Amino acid sequence: MAIERSAAKRPNWSSGFAFIMATLGSAVGLGNIWRFPYVMGQNGGALFLLMYILLTIFICSVPLLCELLLGKQMRRGVIRSYEKINKKFSAFGWLCFITSIFIPCFYFVVGGWTVNYIFIYLFGTIPVNEISQATFETFAAQPVAPLIMGIIFLVLCAIFPFRGVNKGIEQANNIIMPLFIIMLFFLAVTGLFLPNSIEGLKFMFAPDFSKFTFTTVLTALGQALFTLSVGMGCLVTYGSYLKKDSDIIKSSGLLIIGNTIIAVLAGIMIFPAVFSFNLEPSAGAGLVFITLPKVFAALPFGQFFGLMFFVLLFFAALTSGISLLEVSIAAILEKFKISRKLATVIMSSIILVFMFPTTWSFGFLSGYKMFNMTFFEVMDFTASNILLPLNTIILCVVVGWILKPKMELLTNNKKFYDVFNFLLKFIVPPILILLMLFGLGLV
Ligand code: PFF
Repeated sequence: MAIERSAAKRPNWSSGFAFIMATLGSAVGLGNIWRFPYVMGQNGGALFLLMYILLTIFICSVPLLCELLLGKQMRRGVIRSYEKINKKFSAFGWLCFITSIFIPCFYFVVGGWTVNYIFIYLFGTIPVNEISQATFETFAAQPVAPLIMGIIFLVLCAIFPFRGVNKGIEQANNIIMPLFIIMLFFLAVTGLFLPNSIEGLKFMFAPDFSKFTFTTVLTALGQALFTLSVGMGCLVTYGSYLKKDSDIIKSSGLLIIGNTIIAVLAGIMIFPAVFSFNLEPSAGAGLVFITLPKVFAALPFGQFFGLMFFVLLFFAALTSGISLLEVSIAAILEKFKISRKLATVIMSSIILVFMFPTTWSFGFLSGYKMFNMTFFEVMDFTASNILLPLNTIILCVVVGWILKPKMELLTNNKKFYDVFNFLLKFIVPPILILLMLFGLGLV
């Protein structure tokens, strides 16, 4: 794969559609399916949605465009892109690289859980009405089974970057994302026909001013950055495969709209069903792996719906997992001039090593805590609350104040460019610093 080492022969997305599907595939993941609907319900419903949309448009779109611009201009992965601005900025690229190892270490464990649930529903290894909280807890606490599922997930993610940008990543997203969207529509519409589904919609959408605080704003901002895959060079990497004449404003607009619609549809798929069966819309992993199986147990054709839901969740996690891996693969492939295949094997092996303690955080390592957090939680907290915002702040400062990206790569409209630059230099970094201090509990 020597070809990928020179920018002239760098792979390009074969169409605008391929680029949109790849970035959407990266953005739409576990963050949309279980986190967004729940966080929305708990933070004032429709008000949170409005806040999320405003923050995405006026704040998050700036680093999003910035990452794409950096990749498009440098045509390199995240380490070499920073080095091309200035050799001294190498460390900033490495920080993104480290983030791209941290996130998969916990993300892929959850990916492994989805694989396990696919097996359960596909083969009926546990009767649908017997899948319970204990099923999840017993499985997650085992030393070997969740590790094997995590490894299966890791290998399934790695196959695509291993095959290359066009033959692997692009093909996977071009097929999986349309399928994912069809399945999501189907399940969301089905959910609406359940009795009492209106209560679920109320939970999500009814504006509740009492739940709306300053914390809500920051929660919405953090959610927006994570779900749009901003802050670890994923969009720098995907942007580096863009042709010079591609319109990144249009693509970013489609990405933001598509990602938000999918997150809302995920809520419409989940909450009417949860309320219809009088279940508790509880937090995080529990909602998807513990509460929803109870819904499937009560539904006619529960095994079919359960299987469909976990395949959908798996697809979402898979396309994000591919993008997470591609960041580090592209970075070391260029940096050390090695083949893509070797880079994939090296990065997958490094991530695998860290997946052992994150997986066992739910089993025999659950008692080992740092700062009162398990290893899984430490990786999640460090990545989401420290590394992602920190990388985004650095990106805005370096691109805004030092690189000063070429206007023609972004737009012909001088006014738009000026507004973008103003937000990039003066507005977004201080807001992100606040987010970070909040994430660290310092504010
Ligand atoms: N956006 C993904 C999600 O919402 O699940 C997670 C993610 C993928 C974060 C890629 C960061 C990234 F670079």
